[in-house]
Amino acid sequence: MKISYHGHSVVKIKTETHNILIDPFITGNSLCDLDPETVEADVILLTHGHNDHVGDTMAIAERTGAQVVALNELAVYLGKKGLNAHGMNIGGAYTFDFGTVKFTKAFHSSSYEEEDGTVHYTGMPGGILLTINDKTIYHLGDTSLFSDLKMIGDMHDIDLAFIPIGDNFTMGPEDALVAADWVQAKYVVPVHYNTFPVIEQVARDYTDKVKTGKGLPLEVGEEITL
Ligand code: NI
Ligand code: MN
Repeated sequence: MKISYHGHSVVKIKTETHNILIDPFITGNSLCDLDPETVEADVILLTHGHNDHVGDTMAIAERTGAQVVALNELAVYLGKKGLNAHGMNIGGAYTFDFGTVKFTKAFHSSSYEEEDGTVHYTGMPGGILLTINDKTIYHLGDTSLFSDLKMIGDMHDIDLAFIPIGDNFTMGPEDALVAADWVQAKYVVPVHYNTFPVIEQVARDYTDKVKTGKGLPLEVGEEITL
């Protein structure tokens, strides 16, 4: 499969059979190189309800008919908007036709704000373990450092981890180095930085210091093959 990074927490995965988007925040994401009106999607996976993660999910799912997989309260909310949403919860795994999704916990918050300012509670935030053809990708979502990352790393053979480094809203680079040690992925890609002034970071300063696994400072649009 081919995996590419598109700024903030946006990840695109192209398998032999499916186009999968994680946290497709495109409109308003000055780093993103995707076009919400043409991006292909069969599946959209969401880590939590914040607008910089749900992003263009509604428009993309309405256009493509993509299935949306999210934690339960967010899935119920999106289902009421007419999307084909599959709700899960922390610690649960489910095998779909595109692969297996397991939600981990994340230490963060989760709500969704409508255009008119109405705020909806969207349950727990999470991280996503996605296993496709014996390869496991771990998108940590937005989170602080927490010690269960060690347990998750011990229990799962993780090939590629997307770890937030921006600080302010999530863990910063120093904590993200500890997270990389605990998650024990073969490849570590920093995310959730440089989108806003308060989360400016130099990706290579982080990836150069990653001790466990290989740090990959993916450029926007850059693709790797697993
Ligand atoms: Ni968030
Ligand atoms: Mn965020």
